[in-house]
Amino acid sequence: MTKKISIAIDGPAAAGKSTVAKIVAEKLSYIYIDTGAMYRAFTLKALMEGTDIHDEANLFLLLKDTNIELMQESGSQSVFLDGKDVTKEIRESNVTNSVSVIAAHGSIREEMVYRQQQLGKKGGVVMDGRDIGTKVLPDSELKVFLLASVDIRAERRHKENLEKGYPSDLAQLKEEIILRDKSDSEREVSPLKKADDAIEIDTSSLSIDEVAARIIALAEERIEKL
Ligand code: CDP
Ligand code: CDP
Repeated sequence: MTKKISIAIDGPAAAGKSTVAKIVAEKLSYIYIDTGAMYRAFTLKALMEGTDIHDEANLFLLLKDTNIELMQESGSQSVFLDGKDVTKEIRESNVTNSVSVIAAHGSIREEMVYRQQQLGKKGGVVMDGRDIGTKVLPDSELKVFLLASVDIRAERRHKENLEKGYPSDLAQLKEEIILRDKSDSEREVSPLKKADDAIEIDTSSLSIDEVAARIIALAEERIEKL
């Protein structure tokens, strides 16, 4: 049996992490784990329950009582919150605008990191997020940090929204991305940060396939060395 590695993909909002991670996982027949979707699903739950997003103690109790599952079907991933499919709802702007506040609480991160480490412990995973290379899978054989200018990231998200038929305002999207990046980079507990041993790829002028091909080549080098 071919040996399997773990791949950590981090970077700011809309840098292309999930799109590329999915392609890499499919190519290598690995499991793709979208950790942002886990924070988003829990944020949806807190909003639905009316829990104050600043009330860490009550949020932690709520999280302990929350089941989040990521299900894969050929090429796409569905997110289940307490058994209900919330794949679409977790991308809505009410969730996007609250998720970074909830993700900054230390006890929430500790529980999420534990769940993510359980999912990744057997290897053969491509996991994307903000703290995968630094905190969740610090021993992963391949760490990638994706970057792109904020204008390009906002334009990509805008185009994606329009294609999906969602309402979208480019200037507002850019503002939201700047705010979320700031909150994610400046929080005290495991902030968004490139791991010292991560390979940085600026995707501003690269296509999705070009980024995926680079990561697959890096992964194959490491798999050969196992
Ligand atoms: O896809 P997008 O870049 O919009 O964000 P996401 O990956 O779905 O993550 C949503 C939010 O969850 C981020 O802005 C972070 O606040 C939080 N997050 C985190 O703190 N740590 C992770 N490993 C993943 C996401
Ligand atoms: O997961 P993350 O928030 O980092 O980004 P994403 O949701 O994978 O990508 C945001 C948008 O950028 C998607 O619509 C991708 O198709 C697009 N994209 C792109 O146009 N070129 C790339 N090299 C990477 C992503």
